[in-house]
Amino acid sequence: MRHLLSLLDVSQLELQAILEISEQTKELLSKNVRPAWLQRRVLAMLFEKQSLRTRVSFDAGIAQLGGSAMFLGHEVGWQKREKSSDFIRVLSQYADFVVCRAKSHDSVVELAEINCIPVINGLTDKCHPCQALADLMTIRSVLGDVRDKQVTFVGDGNNVAYSLAIACAMVGMRFRLLGPAEYFMPDSLVTEILAPYPDSDIDQTSNIAKAMREADVVYTDVWTSMGQEAEEAARIEAFSPFQLNGQLMSCASKGCKILHCLPARRGQEITDEVIDSPDSLVFEQAGNRMHAQKGLLIWLALQHGQISPETLTGDGVRVPAK
Ligand code: CP
Ligand code: NVA
Repeated sequence: MRHLLSLLDVSQLELQAILEISEQTKELLSKNVRPAWLQRRVLAMLFEKQSLRTRVSFDAGIAQLGGSAMFLGHEVGWQKREKSSDFIRVLSQYADFVVCRAKSHDSVVELAEINCIPVINGLTDKCHPCQALADLMTIRSVLGDVRDKQVTFVGDGNNVAYSLAIACAMVGMRFRLLGPAEYFMPDSLVTEILAPYPDSDIDQTSNIAKAMREADVVYTDVWTSMGQEAEEAARIEAFSPFQLNGQLMSCASKGCKILHCLPARRGQEITDEVIDSPDSLVFEQAGNRMHAQKGLLIWLALQHGQISPETLTGDGVRVPAK
């Protein structure tokens, strides 16, 4: 059974296939074509943390494909009323996929290990692969061929940064993390990327000029992620020199694009001037969350034989070879 707990769970070719299906599905929707490829399929959405984009884009995406989503918040008692393995064995009889946003990455791994329903990571403390899919889709839409281009992530070496670093490694982009050294991605995570992708070009630095001058895309995220609220004051102090403002952007070349996974703390990690600038793609990026996740659900449905490639080709969509 296939799951998506991390982008490292798919091959480079599979990642390309998911992106190509996503792009074609987006194109169809722009013509108001909404094929019911996942008719009567059900997505369970198990969330332990707040969400706007992930929750609503999955819900809207599967609805557009003819299926439905059910939101499972704290009232279902996951991790509290019964063993997680019992919980997922029951849920798998009602739903076709589950997307889970969990405080701890291990909780999502535990669900996938039961291997009774495809599990999608909707964000954990470790990574956010669905975000990275939409990020790649957005970057491809403006840069075309992304090989040898550079993404500079400014801020915390967090869940979003780690998934973006994996995404870059998988498509041949350079990844730079710019921020205070004490908040770099841990070596253990960089090693996890280098193991399958030894040629990946990843560097972490506190040198603004070095990280910014060759950036094609600059990306930032909040300094304090969900669950880290107690550290907020220390984090504001550490990250303030790395606020993404007009001065920092002046260290990048003209036309460099700006991304943010949102939600943004305007005036903290990013200024209004930057997030609202003509080079900012953040709202297109947020929109792409839905298209990328539709592509992912369709790809998972193909992997599990829930639909056949002919279903897609019959509607004029090319299904990339595995
Ligand atoms: N970017 C993102 O995952 O947003 P939500 O937390 O609103 O889902
Ligand atoms: N790093 C942020 C991302 C939110 C989408 C968090 O985990 O809260």
